[in-house]
Amino acid sequence: MKIVLLGPPGAGKGTFAAQASKRLGLPHISTGDLFRAAIKNETSLGKKVKDILANGLLVPDELTIGLVKDRLLQPDAADGWILDGFPRTIPQAEALQEINPAELVLNLEVDDGLILQRLMGRRICRNCGKIYHMVTMPPKRDGICDACGGELYTRSDDQEDSIKTRLAAYREQTEPLVQWYGDRNLLIPLRGKGTPDSVYAAFEEVLRNR
Ligand code: AP5
Ligand code: MG
Repeated sequence: MKIVLLGPPGAGKGTFAAQASKRLGLPHISTGDLFRAAIKNETSLGKKVKDILANGLLVPDELTIGLVKDRLLQPDAADGWILDGFPRTIPQAEALQEINPAELVLNLEVDDGLILQRLMGRRICRNCGKIYHMVTMPPKRDGICDACGGELYTRSDDQEDSIKTRLAAYREQTEPLVQWYGDRNLLIPLRGKGTPDSVYAAFEEVLRNR
């Protein structure tokens, strides 16, 4: 299955994708994670995108499309994938249609109030990338990942200014994709409110009714 996840910052794309990836045996491909890995490894791509991510702006389409094109050619992506955070613009969606079209587009819907709560409380493991929330999904030991013992950190773009910019970028450049995929009969709305298990159960219901 080839699944695209749409939704505003903090909607729960990464949380849902991690669960779906495990259960469906599909690779979780997050462009945000790929960019953050490039920044951490100080690659030439990382140097180009570091300030863009920190400020909450979108990386230019050419760079993003090239990165995804290469990733989708990896052998683990041959039988399907879960794309988290791509496409985010109409040109990116058009490129994906040409490279390897999505079969299902899930739109995770959440209110603005919830977005802020989710992003302000998020922590991520520096080592394995597991996502926590200080209130809804806290680790057992403060600041330490339950899964691998790694250190938890706050993303550089989870600050009020960057969150505002990310939300504006989402509204202007990404939200039009809801209509774009709707016009192609690929869009399925998914309520992002509720526990991760209830969001996943709603997705399973979608699969049963397809
Ligand atoms: P990216 O990393 O994709 O960030 P984003 O879209 O802003 O989304 P987030 O990762 O912040 O949120 P999420 O929806 O994954 O939520 P999460 O599951 O973590 O992109 C970062 C940057 O990279 C962009 O700003 C841009 O610069 C660049 N970029 C990436 N892709 C690009 C592209 N295609 N084109 C151009 N530039 C691109 O959950 C959030 C919090 O809520 C967590 O604490 C979690 O524990 C909690 N939570 C989640 N679900 C639930 C639930 N059901 N119940 C309770 N708590 C929950
Ligand atoms: Mg994410």
